[in-house]
Amino acid sequence: MDPMTDTLHVPVLLEPILARAAGSTRVVDGTLGHGGHAAAFLAIGAEVLGIDRDPDAIATATTRLGHDRMHYLLAPYASEEAVRTVEAFHPDFLLLDLGVSSRQLDDEARGFTFRPGAPLDMRMGPDAAPASEWLAAVEESELQHVLREYGDEPKARRMASEMVRRRENAPFLTSDDLVNAIRAVLGHRSGPGDFARIFQAIRIAVNDELTGLEEVLPRFRQALGSGGTLAVISYHSGEDRVVKRAFREWASGCTCPPAFPICVCGLLPLGRAEPRKAIVADSDEIRTNPRARSARLRFFRNADAT
Ligand SMILES: C[S@@+](CC[C@H](N)C(=O)[O-])C[C@H]1O[C@@H](n2cnc3c(N)ncnc32)[C@H](O)[C@@H]1O
Repeated sequence: MDPMTDTLHVPVLLEPILARAAGSTRVVDGTLGHGGHAAAFLAIGAEVLGIDRDPDAIATATTRLGHDRMHYLLAPYASEEAVRTVEAFHPDFLLLDLGVSSRQLDDEARGFTFRPGAPLDMRMGPDAAPASEWLAAVEESELQHVLREYGDEPKARRMASEMVRRRENAPFLTSDDLVNAIRAVLGHRSGPGDFARIFQAIRIAVNDELTGLEEVLPRFRQALGSGGTLAVISYHSGEDRVVKRAFREWASGCTCPPAFPICVCGLLPLGRAEPRKAIVADSDEIRTNPRARSARLRFFRNADAT
């Protein structure tokens, strides 16, 4: 099977990832999905540990990739179990390709879609609670924060208040309930772009995607050891901010307040974020794989042992 042309889930930004993974012998794919990137890591001869919180993704990837040089773990990548397994694996390259897979999005029963009549589920795995339960219980102020921060929604306050008002009459159970609440605030000119933004915001909250990412990045960097590379593809500005901030902090080393005239902490850079700017897909890749449109890829390479 050719990971570049296999259509099950086209791996995003595969070329720059493979260019940096060349020579790696022990690779962790922390977001295995359907194993598009993992298939390419196997093809360069690496031993691969694939982690996913979605049992369906692990099952599909296992059928596709088998067990030769391939190991699997069903868990959220930020769980203690996953971090310990990664540490024991001693990887020299680790990839996180964040968010949902096209297969998860396309499966209406999974409830990530705003297509009419879909259940409001949005769980990536059984470790989370369904979106319908989250929407029934969330505080109005938290809902407002989620809509503003993860959905870039300028009318977050009005929208949160409208959703709370509506849930008092009837619970949010299907995509239509959520779409109708969005329409009530944004008007009839609102469309798929608005629904996608708001659904994504709620998905990020339901799966607690940003907290886990922020907490696990330093532990993954450490697990890589000297000369190891951490690669992260994000699809949302909130995720990319978390990655960029962590990489910048590690690359600078010094934690003295900017007002200090000289460094007093004496901390050295832990490695380099290279390139400094995120890598994005070119127009050819976006044409063949529209999912790549919002992808931003960053690398951090640990300093070599001295
Ligand atoms: C964009 S897809 C990965 C696609 C994969 N790179 C490929 O080429 O097939 C993201 C996958 O990461 C999984 N995922 C997202 N957040 C996760 C988390 N916190 N822990 C474990 N898996 C996660 C999702 O279930 C999904 O299968």
